[in-house]
Amino acid sequence: MTAESRKELDQLWKKGTDFLGTEYAILGGAMSWLSESNLVSALSNAGGFGVIACGSMTPDLLSTVIEETYAKTKKPFGVNLITMHPDIEALIDVTLAHKVKYVVLAGGIPTSDLIKRIKDGGAKVICFSPALILAKKLIRSGVDALIVEGSEAGGHIGPVSTSVLAQEILPYITDVPVFVAGGIGRGEVIASYLQMGASGCQLGTLFVCAEESIAHENFKKMFMRGNARDAITSVQIDPRFPVIPVRALKNAASVEFMETQRNVINKFQSGELGMVEAQLEIEHYWAGALRRAVIDGDTENGSVMAGQSVGMVKKVQPVTEILDGLIEQAMGQLA
Ligand SMILES: Cc1cc2nc3c(=O)[nH]c(=O)nc-3n(C[C@H](O)[C@H](O)[C@H](O)COP(=O)(O)O)c2cc1C
Repeated sequence: MTAESRKELDQLWKKGTDFLGTEYAILGGAMSWLSESNLVSALSNAGGFGVIACGSMTPDLLSTVIEETYAKTKKPFGVNLITMHPDIEALIDVTLAHKVKYVVLAGGIPTSDLIKRIKDGGAKVICFSPALILAKKLIRSGVDALIVEGSEAGGHIGPVSTSVLAQEILPYITDVPVFVAGGIGRGEVIASYLQMGASGCQLGTLFVCAEESIAHENFKKMFMRGNARDAITSVQIDPRFPVIPVRALKNAASVEFMETQRNVINKFQSGELGMVEAQLEIEHYWAGALRRAVIDGDTENGSVMAGQSVGMVKKVQPVTEILDGLIEQAMGQLA
């Protein structure tokens, strides 16, 4: 690998590194419970871009996590907020009050008002775009950058694969940086997406087993044992009762979820449960499940959210080593 290929890499993702203020245009995607001050600061200190996962945190807790992150890094980082959080406006206020410069909005297409509120407060807005038409709409609404995330990713996912989304969106969106996510396990593919016009990439699964990640040892072990085919999506068995697709490693909970759906639907059909109660019972099945697996280490009864790149996670490594590996592979591809 030559200085030449490093120069080419720097050139290819310049739009991304300029936008993020980082050395590498690699975002550590926000992961609920995992993306707290340790992992986020480690990513940013190593030259990438860490993103705090607010998840279901209260504004006070988010404030504490932001302060803890500032204590561990002077480098830029972002905060990921879920648009349907009941306290979204208070969470935005807390983030802006702490002068965090990047807000990643997830969990649905945000309103123009929400985007404006963040931008008026001095932060840049990054949004997920599941289709070209929505990417254009988000740009009209003022977003500063987009993430295109395919269905290979861990956690909540859309229906379309990363490779197809990248082809559909990258050639047509040039006004703002676009970061590609979902299924990225090696640097060669990062280089390829950059050559297709991406400004950088976002990875989640690959950072779960970072030394700095607070994930329970059982959670990390399951990742290191897991293969691509084990990272399956939650299955909906009845069109009347929608299930939000989530990609996670199969375990006792994913098997029991099918049984739960069957029981609830039987109760609905016999008139024991109304439509709304039945839907809520299905939705509540996974409540608290990610925490149970990530923090408590109950990887059989919790949700072990993981992307298909899980098969490329082999050991616990410091973030610097993971990033260095990706850069080396990306340069190898370019050389
Ligand atoms: C355990 C886990 C939790 C996640 N939690 C969130 C979240 O709270 N908010 C969010 O926007 N994305 C979440 N994601 C998605 C990541 O931010 C990232 O976009 C995704 O992991 C990228 O795909 P990859 O897993 O194939 O690398 C989560 C992913 C995982 C694996």
